[in-house]
Amino acid sequence: MSFDLIVKSATLADGRIVDIGVNGDKIAAIDQHLDAEAAKTIDATGNLVSSPFVDPHFHMDATLSYGIPRINASGTLLEGIALWGELKPLLTHEAVKQRALSYCDWAVSMGLLAIRTHVDVCDDRLLAVEALLEVKKEVAPYIDLQLVAFPQDGLYRSPTARQNTLRALDLGVDIVGGIPHFERTMEDGRRSVTDLCQIAAERGLMVDMHCDETDDPQSRHIEQLAYETQRLGLHGRAAGSHLTSMHSMDNYYVSKLLPLIAEADLSVIPNPLINIMLQGRHDTYPKRRGMTRVPEMLRYGIRVGWGQDCVLDPWYSLGTADMLDVAFMGLHVAQMSSPADMRHCFDMVTRVNAEIMGLDHLGIAVGKTASLVILDAGDPIEALRLRAERMCVIARGKVVAERPRRDTTLSIHGRPASINRRHKI
Ligand code: FE2
Repeated sequence: MSFDLIVKSATLADGRIVDIGVNGDKIAAIDQHLDAEAAKTIDATGNLVSSPFVDPHFHMDATLSYGIPRINASGTLLEGIALWGELKPLLTHEAVKQRALSYCDWAVSMGLLAIRTHVDVCDDRLLAVEALLEVKKEVAPYIDLQLVAFPQDGLYRSPTARQNTLRALDLGVDIVGGIPHFERTMEDGRRSVTDLCQIAAERGLMVDMHCDETDDPQSRHIEQLAYETQRLGLHGRAAGSHLTSMHSMDNYYVSKLLPLIAEADLSVIPNPLINIMLQGRHDTYPKRRGMTRVPEMLRYGIRVGWGQDCVLDPWYSLGTADMLDVAFMGLHVAQMSSPADMRHCFDMVTRVNAEIMGLDHLGIAVGKTASLVILDAGDPIEALRLRAERMCVIARGKVVAERPRRDTTLSIHGRPASINRRHKI
């Protein structure tokens, strides 16, 4: 038996130490010891080897545009949307495409090999849709890119948004998006959820809505999304992104809502970096941080994945395409500090996010796509603590990114010459 590639002595997230044999773009064998020839061998001794990072919520049409034409002075979601409205007429096909491709390079360097991006359809030119459809094709050899038709300015509030949503889906956009809390009234928001879910059901598509991204405890569009998912049989194919209003909701109402979300098999995608940055801006103290109720949802068996949302755009002035940063922030804000919870946070940005996106070809098992990340960490908790270096990224059987270990040289008399911050517990 011979392989194109063997990753030797890989430490898996569950603690097993194995060799992974790859042929073509597939994992061909996993064993404690593979005694076989290989065209290329990578020694992963002492290093965690994971399935790739996956981001189920991003805005690739806006990324890397920070400062164009100005920055968001108030730091609110609403000024971000207004600023994006100023930027939209200035967008060109080439600029959107180049920024998106640059971002995809960052993503690959971070072992982020699957991304679901919302794309604004409210510009009648559908320029961003066309640019990102081209990007999707170009990055397909190494990134799974899903596009969501996103009526940013409101399905009904923006005059051509509904027809543009349908046009975008006709052009090949994969998923139906929405933004019910940004419609003119609660009733319009409710109708938009029904309308969009029906469009998804008729076309056999998934749904992923920005839902209740507000501090308003009365924003309850998630209830309608759960209802429509149930009514139309969209179980497992629908996701609610953000759900920040749940942070502020009445506890009794939440006790009714959580079982409804579980019953509909809705996926939930909080975006911790952005939620805590944008929410609570109208508060004094105590100041709400807008994180939805993640541990409570997990107790109900609800599928929850961490999303990134933004990098250097009208809503967020930082970001590096690092899903470990996202999980690190998420576990702090959601107070998921037990070893089991921290491990689950790592799982959320790898396995669970892939499940939300329906990417069942990812994972570390024979027959799965050979997309792997070798980290400078011994286990998932250490990977989170260090936001560990991605030493090697393998996409569909090919090495696409490599980075040396980052030890620090010390110049202190009587101390070691170099240190690494890894620490075996
Ligand atoms: Fe978003």
